Amino acid sequence: MNTEMEIKKAANILANAKRTVASCGAGISAESGIATFRDPGGVWEKLNPAEVGTADGLLSTLTNNPHKLMPFFIELLETFQNAEPNPAHLALGELERMGILQTVITQNIDNLHIEAGNTDVIEVHGNGFRIRCISCGGSERLQRKQIIKDTLKKVRDIKEFTLETIVSLLPPCRNCLAPTRPDVVMFGEMVKDVPQAFDAARKSDVLLAIGTSGTVYPAAHLPFHAKESGAKVIVVNPNENAFSAVSDIYIPMKAGAAMEEIIQAIRRLMH
Ligand code: APR
Repeated sequence: MNTEMEIKKAANILANAKRTVASCGAGISAESGIATFRDPGGVWEKLNPAEVGTADGLLSTLTNNPHKLMPFFIELLETFQNAEPNPAHLALGELERMGILQTVITQNIDNLHIEAGNTDVIEVHGNGFRIRCISCGGSERLQRKQIIKDTLKKVRDIKEFTLETIVSLLPPCRNCLAPTRPDVVMFGEMVKDVPQAFDAARKSDVLLAIGTSGTVYPAAHLPFHAKESGAKVIVVNPNENAFSAVSDIYIPMKAGAAMEEIIQAIRRLMH
């Protein structure tokens, strides 16, 4: 299979698409410096999902052994602080401006699709820069770099990491002053906006699956759902993934280069 041909075919399909949806995973943010979960050296190699991936596990770790987690937490904050939308995110913003892409469905919590200019972003695993009150449920969107800067400053002033001092890192609820938490979906919690995500996939005539291993449901079902509804499925992923049986076009490249080449091929078609 000739990747250049696949890029040209993908560009042709996208240029003639009526409703394109992108379904993205951690791989699209890898070139922004944010580690994926299941690649070598990924998050789940460093951290035990049972200790930090569920609400109960995280609460127990923060209560009984906060010092174990805090170095990773600080490293993650610094990674997110330095992250910028990469060419793949920017390409999806460009596809929306071209009138080709309507919706981005993402499993990522890094806010980078919104910062790349996409305006219809379904964040099925939430957003790490939106906080939610643990009492009244009210939520508030924060400015990514500012909240990280403020949090890192507070962290450096903490003498003793305890559950209380860690919870105090985030601003209290504007409505009721109760503590808040990042508005992200932990394992075992309700995934967000699933009906909207499946509706978008069903109505699409092209689904671009970018940088996801297809390990976690229900997001992993989206390409199959789109395919069942008659859409063409284009997969961008340098490694083996769960979508080889459903992809009409498979581009075994990193997202940045692949999406830049697709945009250039579409521009050539449109002139
Ligand atoms: N460009 C494109 N794809 C890439 C790149 C890259 N530069 N680098 C890695 N990938 C691919 C990998 O080959 C892999 O298939 O991205 C995928 C990342 O897979 P995962 O780490 O499993 O991430 P993801 O699919 O988003 O995981 C889904 O699992 O732990 C939960 O909530 C977490 O949202 C996450 C969910």
